[in-house]
Amino acid sequence: MSYVRSKAFDETGYVVLDSYDQAADPKEWLDLEYVDWKSSGDTRFAPLTSAFGDMECNAFWNHTPPRTDKDGVWVQANVEKAPILKARAEEPGANIGRCRVIELQPDTYPTALYNLHQDDNNRLNPDGTGWIVRGFFNLSDDPESYLILREDRFDPETEVRISLPAGRQVIVDTQRFWHAVWQKGPEPRYCLITSWESGPELDAYIEKYHGDPHFPSAPLDPRFVEEAQVEVRRRLAERAATLAARGKAGQVLVDLDLDDDD
Ligand SMILES: [Fe+2]
Repeated sequence: MSYVRSKAFDETGYVVLDSYDQAADPKEWLDLEYVDWKSSGDTRFAPLTSAFGDMECNAFWNHTPPRTDKDGVWVQANVEKAPILKARAEEPGANIGRCRVIELQPDTYPTALYNLHQDDNNRLNPDGTGWIVRGFFNLSDDPESYLILREDRFDPETEVRISLPAGRQVIVDTQRFWHAVWQKGPEPRYCLITSWESGPELDAYIEKYHGDPHFPSAPLDPRFVEEAQVEVRRRLAERAATLAARGKAGQVLVDLDLDDDD
């Protein structure tokens, strides 16, 4: 397959843009209608787009006819309450697929590691068109929380931790990375997640806001990381045993492969 990809992602697979002055905006995300949608962690989502403009969050390929994560239809009841968030999603001028605000309840580092998953944004994406990547615009102020990215799900050496103060703007090739968020809390985290099609429009946007593929990863005590690894291995083994007992051995590696989240 030969998709159009952004050179900005060649090296590390993600970029951090200039921070956005989130404090200057009203908290539109608190006015939105959220729907229960299981993702990695305890989550709800407020769709700004959906497959047909309905108040729902199912992946576009689960609709009829199934299609890839492009050409999202605005959900009127929510975009009326969030004109600034809509404008921010539209600013690159790239095709928008799913666009939603996630609400994530606090979790722990081991739980975030357990929830690591790769997205499936490019399912049904036609060859020769733009590869779909996702923007994460942190809305709430969570400077002690991290977006966790791993090239290798089980190798902490590949881990990148991007802190999430209000206004943090990250674009990630979420089909390449295992990812999840460690939200320390005590409040939930809110983030605008937008699927964009790679192409010259997105390239220009990343350049305009100085997309940095080497944004510094937040430090974490290696002993703390190793303890979490042990805990995750224990939980995965426990889950594997449960599935094996049900005659579903082998599913443990796919049952967290959610189509969505962050
Ligand atoms: Fe995800």
